[in-house]
Amino acid sequence: MRAMTYRGPYKLRVEEKDRPRIEHPNDAIVRVQLAAICGSDLHLYHGMMPDTRIGHTFGHEFIGVVDEVGSSVQSLQVGDRVMVPFNIFCGSCWFCARGLYSNCHNVNANATAVGGIYGYSHTTGGYDGGQAEYVRVPFADVGPVKIPDWMHDEDAVLLTDAAATGYFGAQLGEIAEGDTVVVLGAGPVGLIAAQSAWLMGAGRVIVVDHLAERLEKARPMAHAETLDYDEHDDIVVELKRQTDHLGADVVIEAVGAEADGNCLMHVAGAKLKLQGGSPVALNWAIDGVRKGGTVAVVGAYGPVPNAVKFGDALNKGLTLRMNQTPVKRQWPRMFEHVRNGHLTPREMVTHRFPLEAIADAYHVFSAKLARCIKPLILPSAS
Ligand SMILES: NC(=O)c1ccc[n+]([C@@H]2O[C@H](COP(=O)([O-])OP(=O)(O)OC[C@H]3O[C@@H](n4cnc5c(N)ncnc54)[C@H](O)[C@@H]3O)[C@@H](O)[C@H]2O)c1
Ligand SMILES: [Zn+2]
Ligand SMILES: [Zn+2]
Repeated sequence: MRAMTYRGPYKLRVEEKDRPRIEHPNDAIVRVQLAAICGSDLHLYHGMMPDTRIGHTFGHEFIGVVDEVGSSVQSLQVGDRVMVPFNIFCGSCWFCARGLYSNCHNVNANATAVGGIYGYSHTTGGYDGGQAEYVRVPFADVGPVKIPDWMHDEDAVLLTDAAATGYFGAQLGEIAEGDTVVVLGAGPVGLIAAQSAWLMGAGRVIVVDHLAERLEKARPMAHAETLDYDEHDDIVVELKRQTDHLGADVVIEAVGAEADGNCLMHVAGAKLKLQGGSPVALNWAIDGVRKGGTVAVVGAYGPVPNAVKFGDALNKGLTLRMNQTPVKRQWPRMFEHVRNGHLTPREMVTHRFPLEAIADAYHVFSAKLARCIKPLILPSAS
């Protein structure tokens, strides 16, 4: 089969690889119909994630057709069209029993923190991902869901991560009625976080980024006020000025460890890898939220980011909430919101690439060229 493979930082190829096989009776093999590139894939692409091995196939957002099932699979049949959450999880361990699907204890021999993720290096289990013609789906009775007839394929693929993560970020914010919610980052995750904040009772939603096309998208798509941090000497001061000088009730951090906005920290942290990333956005969140407020972090961080203003968070009495998204837990309510048009994930899709052009797709998305917000990958178009 054809599959995207990692060849080193900023180097990807599409190569011939063995078609995945059933390795366990509860596996399924899915023929991928539509995949996406996530902001998280950029951390792999940039060589920021440890133990990203040569030859690894990325891709944790995908939908497709069940091509083969293992002997114990009961809920799926060959031919079913499925959407697959980015988490690989067993559904029955202590953590899964409590809905912590992203922290499943049975799927990742390499870590005690994160569970399994498709195509996300050996730090999350070493599973090959869905930017390929076929993918092996473990625990096929647990993760995948048949795509409802009414659901658009592009909404379905975005619900497997980006949209679910935005919604989860808003949920982690514990928004109370009338709250002022600031969303840092207007990528796919931040845009859906901003839409979701209204559904959870926000009175005001302010989105911060520095890419004009993304802020332009945030206004009609999420009815948000927008701030370009490049236009302000100190974005935290500006946020305070706009929120009675007290700060926002809730800040959702949808940026992660490769944040821009403080050149020194970005170069020292993200580029030279001295600090396990650059906590600029995290610190803006801690500084920009009011005392006693909540910071919800869905932006991705490595294990040890330094120079986080932890003492300020403590002294302000903040609530910090974070996790990788337990995607399937969000789906029942999200399906209703998508069906009713309250959440519109596919509105942020700007680009569609055939699998054979995936190296271009990564370059365009990573360098934020051509007003790219969310690129999709079409394996069959190749
Ligand atoms: N927790 C999870 O389960 C989960 C799931 C998906 C994505 N993520 C993470 O969420 C983050 C966002 O994902 P995405 O797909 O939207 O990525 P993206 O790269 O498309 O978007 C990130 C946005 O942040 C902006 N930005 C950079 N520095 C900033 C700063 N200091 N302040 C405000 N904005 C800033 C960028 O201009 C960009 O628009 C990434 O770190 C990704 O790894 C986490
Ligand atoms: Zn992702
Ligand atoms: Zn589990």
